[in-house]
Amino acid sequence: MPQNQMPDALRLEGIAHAFGPNRVLNGIDLTLAVGEVLALVGENGAGKSTLMKIIAGYLAPGEGRTRWQGQPVSADPQEAETAGIVLVHQEFALIPDLSVAENILLGHEPTRCGLIDFAAMNKAAGNALQLLNSDIDPRAGMAGLPVSSWQIVELAKAFASGPRLLLMDEPTAVLGARETEALFARIRAFAAEGGSVIFTSHRLDEVRAISDRVAVLRDGTITLDRPAAGLSEHDIASAMIGREMEDLFPPLAPYPTAAPILAVEGLSVPRDFGPPVQDASFAVAPGEILGIAGLVGSGRTEMVEALVGLRSANARRFILRGAESPLPDAVEAWRLGIAYLTEDRKSRGLLLAENVELNTSLTISALAGGTLIDRDEDSRRYADAQARYSIRAASPKIAVGRLSGGNQQKVLIAKTLAPDPDVVILDEPTRGVDIGAKMQIYQVIAGLAQNGKAVIVISSELPELIGLVHRILVMDRGRVAGIVTPPESTRPTEHEILNLALGLQNHDAST
Ligand SMILES: Nc1ncnc2c1ncn2[C@@H]1O[C@H](COP(=O)(O)OP(=O)(O)OP(=O)(O)O)[C@@H](O)[C@H]1O
Ligand SMILES: [Mg+2]
Repeated sequence: MPQNQMPDALRLEGIAHAFGPNRVLNGIDLTLAVGEVLALVGENGAGKSTLMKIIAGYLAPGEGRTRWQGQPVSADPQEAETAGIVLVHQEFALIPDLSVAENILLGHEPTRCGLIDFAAMNKAAGNALQLLNSDIDPRAGMAGLPVSSWQIVELAKAFASGPRLLLMDEPTAVLGARETEALFARIRAFAAEGGSVIFTSHRLDEVRAISDRVAVLRDGTITLDRPAAGLSEHDIASAMIGREMEDLFPPLAPYPTAAPILAVEGLSVPRDFGPPVQDASFAVAPGEILGIAGLVGSGRTEMVEALVGLRSANARRFILRGAESPLPDAVEAWRLGIAYLTEDRKSRGLLLAENVELNTSLTISALAGGTLIDRDEDSRRYADAQARYSIRAASPKIAVGRLSGGNQQKVLIAKTLAPDPDVVILDEPTRGVDIGAKMQIYQVIAGLAQNGKAVIVISSELPELIGLVHRILVMDRGRVAGIVTPPESTRPTEHEILNLALGLQNHDAST
């Protein structure tokens, strides 16, 4: 049926909402057809998550009304779910102590003779995961799984609950290319069966690839609402930031001639999931930006975690500033000037219940042994970080958990860079941040290199690495498949890097 003849499934009229004096949504009108996939985009803090929580009944709007299949929706997530509206939150809401299957079927456990039928439960969960092309073991405990698996379990759980309207708040932020493709296939099948979808993403290429329609949220109102066909990424970005886009990437400084500040040879890291990291060797010089590419699960994070003492590992040699030493433990790594920005913002990066200012100073305070805490200094540091990374927070004293996802990420970056480290390892630094903030983070990274820092950037977004770094190390199933060293003028193509990551082509691992 052509789209304009489809009945409206969801209709929002004049939705407005404020958190205290902070007016977030301002008269939102929006409709969604049966079988339609809508992308909701906007800068960090634009109100995307707030709008989704209102639709799914987690939040009562200050003004306006929501109708779903002609009926009003009440502010009760249970009732909304019964009506078929299911929200996958931006922040994970799974229970670490339960198994994967228990999480997926929580509240819908199959029973036999009044007892939970574990065999049936594992089977049902396995099927739900299979539909997302995932081979996660339904019997595995949640706690030990990597963040991408958490996201996949959340999605499997949502699809398994039999939704008619599925709201997904940044479902792909922690997924790799293959997992994203599997999710998109699932979304297409769901929409073809008459399911409706609203999702948010900061990856505009994805937005164009999967959505029928794009709505942009800025300053509390919808500034663009058009069919995705014919919209360019440039159109979307301009509507988001309210001005024309400039160049996304800062100019790349020439490849440095200095000797490496950090070098590792023959690094091996055991893993619970996936093949171990084996015999990895690489070096990074002051002023260099080294990218690390590879599929999710290829061992990128584990490899760098070993360098900063977050994982036990063996190395034939570890050389820092020309001196050979054993691999450092976590505290030593910080003292030696090696900083690591975790990809696991929620459980490892930030203290969500503590305020923004305290979080920004967390590493510095910890390094000072927690004795010399100077609140004025904390305030100054936060004011500086707020300007530098344009953190949007109602006040320095607000709990970091109440910030939007992208703003939490900016606080994490500020915290990591606060001790002024010489070697900076950034794991997915632009995950969940909007395009304007991305450009700022790219400037920050280029600036670090210009100031003689050695920078390592792990990213699942190939265009980001291609635009930003000097060399790209590609991981494939625990091994360094190659290090692409582009000559001055030619940047490596996305295709070349993908081939390496997929193990399709063998490159010389020397530099
Ligand atoms: N529980 C809350 N208490 C106070 N303020 C809040 C709360 N939740 C959100 N806000 C504020 O409302 C605004 C919109 O936040 P929201 O999370 O909806 O943004 P978003 O568009 O989802 O951003 P992001 O892309 O970073 O996830 C932000 O300024 C945020 O700080
Ligand atoms: Mg959000």
